[in-house]
Amino acid sequence: VKAFKSTAIARLLADAGHVNFCGATIRELEGLAAAGLGTDLLLANEVLDATRLGALVEDGNRVTVAVDSAETIDAAAAGGVHEVLIDVEVGMPRCGCLPKDAGRIADLARAAGLEVRGVMGYEGHLMMADAEKKPGAVEASMAKLLAAHELVGGDVVSGGGTGTYDVNTWVTEVQAGSYCLLDTDYAKLDSPFEIAISVLGTVISTHPKGWAVSDTGLKSFGMDHGAPTWTGGDLLFCADEHATLLDPEGTLSVGDRVRLLPGHLDPTVARHKVMWVVDGDTIVDRWPIDLRHW
Ligand SMILES: Cc1ncc(COP(=O)(O)O)c(C=O)c1O
Repeated sequence: VKAFKSTAIARLLADAGHVNFCGATIRELEGLAAAGLGTDLLLANEVLDATRLGALVEDGNRVTVAVDSAETIDAAAAGGVHEVLIDVEVGMPRCGCLPKDAGRIADLARAAGLEVRGVMGYEGHLMMADAEKKPGAVEASMAKLLAAHELVGGDVVSGGGTGTYDVNTWVTEVQAGSYCLLDTDYAKLDSPFEIAISVLGTVISTHPKGWAVSDTGLKSFGMDHGAPTWTGGDLLFCADEHATLLDPEGTLSVGDRVRLLPGHLDPTVARHKVMWVVDGDTIVDRWPIDLRHW
């Protein structure tokens, strides 16, 4: 859910039979539980204060948290979370222990009274890898996770994402979320998924030298995967509150609506309160982005 941050979309997935969810923040898991979607929740991230997660367990939700150190194990145990996955670094320099250290971490967790459900390892560095090299690179990355799994035990091998869901055949569950709405970065991949999200801006100024300015800037988009794409032409640049759109023919007028496609879904969604679901120009639903914030 970290990608789309909306229990409305999670509910659609649950109604289609997919009832276990993976998030990146405590807030996301709290929102899922509040929406009655707490059947099997994974916080695929490390936390040092798990008391809010423990409260969810107390309320009857199933919560599993990623751990990769004595400190995160202590936090899970002290906070009242009973189930963990050992997070393993599989090539991306982020959270996760060394594969060879996973058995020791699992022993620590068991000694702290925790149930170790298995391992997770996110091969995020390979999401956009070259299509020919990707299967081999993911196999090598997952070999690290499987080696750790040998040392750890448990039923779960969790990993993968929208960029590797089709080649990662080693995990028992795929942590993909962006596929639901996609973004222009993921759209570069050859996949069956389509971009279903855009930000609608309003032209607030036009200039005789051949540009128009919409009210959608850095505060409307996550820009770490590049600038948004304007569906009507070229975007010159984004400033804090503005996007400058090249309009040499002067076709845009003040008040016109322009549609921009985000380069990176997650941080874009996090900047907005609601998604309007449209069929053409008709609004058919309103999905609150209720899982935003920490
Ligand atoms: C831990 C973890 N798992 C999986 C994913 C994959 O998510 P997505 O399918 O949205 O790329 C991410 C994305 O950042 C992640 O951080």
